[in-house]
Amino acid sequence: MRFTPHILAAACASIVPVHAAAAPHTVGAVVQTLPSDDGLDLRLSSGARVHVGFVTADVVRVRMTPGGRFAPDVSYAIAGTPPTSRATLTTHEASVELRSATGTRVVIGTRPELAISVYDGAGKLVVADDPARPMAFNPVDGTVETSMRRDDYELYYGFGEKTFPLSRHQQTMVMWNSDVPDYPAGHDPSYESIPFFIALHDGKSYGLFFDNTRRSWFDMGKTDPHRYSFGAAGGELDYYVFTGGPARTPAGVLRDYTALTGRGALPPLWALGYQQSRWSYMTQEQVLDVAHEFRRRHIPADVIYLDIDHMDGFRVFTWNPKTFPDPKTMLDRLHDAGFHAVTIVDPGIKFDERYPIYRSGREQGIYVRNADGGELHAKVWPGICAFPDFTSPAARAWFGSLYKAPLDLGVDGFWNDMNEPGVFAPDDFKQPDISLGPHKTFPLDARHAGDGIPGTHAQYHNVYGMQMARASFEGLRNLRPDKRPLVLTRAGFAGVQRYAAVWTGDNSPTWTHLALTIPMLTNLSVSGVPFVGADVGGFMGSPGAELHTRWLQAAALTPYFRTHSNDVSAPREPWAFGAAYERIDRATIELRYRLLPYLYTLFADNEQSGTPPMRPLWFAYPGDARARLVDDQFLAGGDLLVAPVLHEGQTRRDVYFPQGDTWIDWWDGTRHAGGTAAQVAAPLDRLPLFIRAGAGVPVAPVVQNTGEMKNVPLTIAVAAGAGGTSHVFQDAGDGYGYRQGASRTITVTQDAHGVRLEMPPNRGYQRVGAIDIIGLAAAPAGVRIDGEPARDVHFDAATRRLRIALPNENVKRVEF
Ligand code: NOJ
Repeated sequence: MRFTPHILAAACASIVPVHAAAAPHTVGAVVQTLPSDDGLDLRLSSGARVHVGFVTADVVRVRMTPGGRFAPDVSYAIAGTPPTSRATLTTHEASVELRSATGTRVVIGTRPELAISVYDGAGKLVVADDPARPMAFNPVDGTVETSMRRDDYELYYGFGEKTFPLSRHQQTMVMWNSDVPDYPAGHDPSYESIPFFIALHDGKSYGLFFDNTRRSWFDMGKTDPHRYSFGAAGGELDYYVFTGGPARTPAGVLRDYTALTGRGALPPLWALGYQQSRWSYMTQEQVLDVAHEFRRRHIPADVIYLDIDHMDGFRVFTWNPKTFPDPKTMLDRLHDAGFHAVTIVDPGIKFDERYPIYRSGREQGIYVRNADGGELHAKVWPGICAFPDFTSPAARAWFGSLYKAPLDLGVDGFWNDMNEPGVFAPDDFKQPDISLGPHKTFPLDARHAGDGIPGTHAQYHNVYGMQMARASFEGLRNLRPDKRPLVLTRAGFAGVQRYAAVWTGDNSPTWTHLALTIPMLTNLSVSGVPFVGADVGGFMGSPGAELHTRWLQAAALTPYFRTHSNDVSAPREPWAFGAAYERIDRATIELRYRLLPYLYTLFADNEQSGTPPMRPLWFAYPGDARARLVDDQFLAGGDLLVAPVLHEGQTRRDVYFPQGDTWIDWWDGTRHAGGTAAQVAAPLDRLPLFIRAGAGVPVAPVVQNTGEMKNVPLTIAVAAGAGGTSHVFQDAGDGYGYRQGASRTITVTQDAHGVRLEMPPNRGYQRVGAIDIIGLAAAPAGVRIDGEPARDVHFDAATRRLRIALPNENVKRVEF
């Protein structure tokens, strides 16, 4: 069968040269089946070959190769080799059925066209090929595509970094990492491509991951609301369906997706502190002055960033001898003041015979090559540059080793920018100002090593940035095996979470962009990337004081919390907007530090389960129809609901409280029933914040940086009401001791009469000094600790909080 090329395949074709307008072929009927342990190998009438098998009992993998021969089974996205799981086969008249140990079924229709349907263990349809548009390939240009039936009400989340509304139904998207400064809302593609989504329909989820690094596309019901399609400009059609297990929850889907593509490792504690950046702090004195001001004004902060101007002529791994003549002393002083320093490292290496790093790279033969075999050169900040081929293990090892010099000086973390890769348009580029254009990268026929599978830039473009982050991460881990690296990357692909935190690039200082941070960051989070943030205030200019203050609030409980601005924007340190704003901004950053032990626990949980610290409401409440499109609130973990003000001049806002839980106002203890909405007070100095009744959240006293945290006692804030169990994770805050048991998990259980505490022995962790009960209507008649009347108890009627000091960590039970 033939059909007209898909509209987006045509869009791909404008980038990948197409010779003739050949129509795609459908794969055709199954002509031969060959059972394997995990499923079935199929030969199709078109000559294509398909493999359908179980990865685990709840994860199905489908692979199609047009040429009849599969490529080696390696993937940049997947951590290790994908496992396989046993399938039981039943053959019917025109179909074959595969069944997994949990009862997940794949029904493979064999004629007139291959048609694959997946059913969950309860017999409910998960996803089915659209018979009107069977799996297909184009024999001339190599494009592959397939389509699934779509229910009108099915929603889709994920897809990495997109500037679209919360659910991406009826959107088309392209996966092609692009440098898009000042990106307008709705602009696509963006810096970071993750061809994975979670679908939600009738409270049930499934996930789909299309493992293809080439330029790919998704049409999620835009062309036809009854179908969605995806495809790529070459390679195999290799995709995974995650049923989410028997409960079909989004968390189950993400657990299984991150089991395959890896989970973000626990960051060092300091990386969760407040981070201050700008392009650039121009001299070492200025860096120290900024650090000093934070301390003088008692505004907590942990990290200061050095953008490209710290370098000598933008040569990576160098220092400007005039403006940063003594980086060692500067770094020592920063450390003395409790700061960590992060420097930027771009992929472009200045083409300069007198630059030893350039020469070393050339000698090692690690640069990307043009199709004609010459060294690829393109312009970035330093002028003409060469670029390490991060798809070569030798290049990664070489680049990783370059971090020794800055580490030895005392730099603590590293920021990989421009790694889509983004390059400047050539001088002779004739088209008018297309700043977001696809020409701003390497030629598509540039050559990459591809870790033993050589290929073109068209094949490896989307993993270039992620492999740069990998080179950085692995280099740092080799050089300092006892430290957890902080690597920040702008570009990435599925699996980038194994190596780096991700920020959303060059956003703008507008209210629209502030609002965009929630759909962008929550969708990145459910794409498997836990450590995400947006430049506070908007990068591309100067926000007004109100916008800046609201933005800081909105970001305070996002995983990665950094203020950053471009080279022409007005100063944006928290004191830059005058005393009244400084007071509010200080309190906002203090809130971050108070809740840091909680955020840290969320990261530890993420490493175990793949559930991200920042969650959209639908993720935790998939059965709540009203939660599905809420894009102006988010959950910090399972216990805090954050509803920032996203509109100018607003001092009250509507908040939706997800069904099934009761929510208590963090500030005044007011209770809100789940499934209701309310208008809440949001004066300029307040971030509307709610705690889930039944939860226990660790809170620390304000410190000026995370280095001081160890010595201050924790309070467990328990939201009164429904029973429930929470836990608090503690370890050294850095290093890998926690993987060998050097950590403890405190368990806090609330029942009808009080709170039970289980505190394993304290080997130097923050001690628990008090319990706060939030949301009590009145002071209780009496409070008992392990049966004895408590001595140190205080009730604050205005905030409806009861504070109970604990005499020591042996306390087992508090009754009130
Ligand atoms: C582009 C990055 O997105 C931005 O954050 C950085 O400040 C500039 N490059 C300069 O390095």
